[in-house]
Amino acid sequence: MNIKEKTMKNVLNAPFLKETAKTASNMYRLGWDERNGGNISRLLDEEEYKDYIDVTNVIREIPLGFDANSLKGRVFIVTGTGKYFKNVEDDPETNLGIIRIKEDGKVAQLLWGYKDGGRFTSEFPAHMMSHMARLSENPKNRIVMHTHPTHLLAMNYVHELDEKKLTHTLWQMSTECIVVFPDGVGVLPWMLCGTNEIGVATAEKMKEFRVVVWALHGVYGAGEIIDEAKLPMKFFAYTPCYRKEAGSYRAEERGMIRGHQFNKVEMVQYAHPEHSKEAFEELVGKACSLMEKLGLHFRLSKL
Ligand code: 13P
Ligand code: ZN
Repeated sequence: MNIKEKTMKNVLNAPFLKETAKTASNMYRLGWDERNGGNISRLLDEEEYKDYIDVTNVIREIPLGFDANSLKGRVFIVTGTGKYFKNVEDDPETNLGIIRIKEDGKVAQLLWGYKDGGRFTSEFPAHMMSHMARLSENPKNRIVMHTHPTHLLAMNYVHELDEKKLTHTLWQMSTECIVVFPDGVGVLPWMLCGTNEIGVATAEKMKEFRVVVWALHGVYGAGEIIDEAKLPMKFFAYTPCYRKEAGSYRAEERGMIRGHQFNKVEMVQYAHPEHSKEAFEELVGKACSLMEKLGLHFRLSKL
C-alpha cells in the first residue's frame, strides 16, 4: 500500500458508490433486473472521487472497441458484465468498477473494482455513446441506466411500437408520466444488444429523448442524478379552501360556524435544489401568463 492509498478515504463509504449500489438493489426488488439484467453508469465529478480514489494507480486497462474521445479523462462508476444487481450492495468491489477513459479515447483504465478480473457491462458502447449524446445536450448529465421493466416490456408485445403512440399511451396510463418524460419516449426496433450499432442508434435517440425503449428488451434512461427520472415533478391542484369569514378582519364574526369558501388553483414543483430558482420563475411566469391570457388585471407582489 503506498502512502497515497493510506490517506485515501474508504471508497465503500463514498456517497456516489453507496447510491449506485442501493439503486441496483432497488431495481432488483422491483423485479426489473433478474439475474444480470440491467446496467448503470455514472459519470463522476473530481470533487466526488478525489478523496476516495488514487487516480495514479491504474489496476489494468480494458480496450473499448469504439471511440470515446470526447470522454477522455472522465471517470465513471459502472456495473460489471454478468453481475447480478441483487449482489451489488453486498459486494461492490466485485460487481462495480471505477474506470477512467484514457487520453486516446480507446481504452478504459480500471482504478478500482471488478475484483474478480471482470469488466464493465457488455452494454458499455450504448452507455458511453449515450453519455456523449446527453452531455452535448446537457453538460450536467451524469447518469445512464438500462433496465428491463416488466410492465413496459409486456406492453411491447401488445402495443404498436410507434414512438408517438407509445408515448401517448404511457402519458395516459399514469399522470406522472407526462411530467417525468415530457419529451416522450424514443423507440428502437429490436436490435442485437451489446454492440456498437445499438450504441450508435441509442445515442442518436438520446439527442431527442431521455428515455429510449429497446423494443422487446428493455429501456434506457438518462439524467443529471439517479433520482432525476422523477424530477422536476410539476403539479397543480384545484381545491376548495375554507377561511374564517372574509373582509371584516373578524370584527363581524358571529356564531359558531361562519366560514368562507373559495376555490383556488395552486402550483407546486419538486425540483433539484440547483434548479429551484428557475422552477420558481417558471411558476410565477405561468401564473402571470394565465392572467394575461384571461385579460384580467393583476399585480405581481413580492412577499
Ligand atoms: P451485462 O450483464 O453485460 O450488464 O448485460 C445485461 C443486460 O441487460 C444486457 O442488455
Ligand atoms: Zn438488457
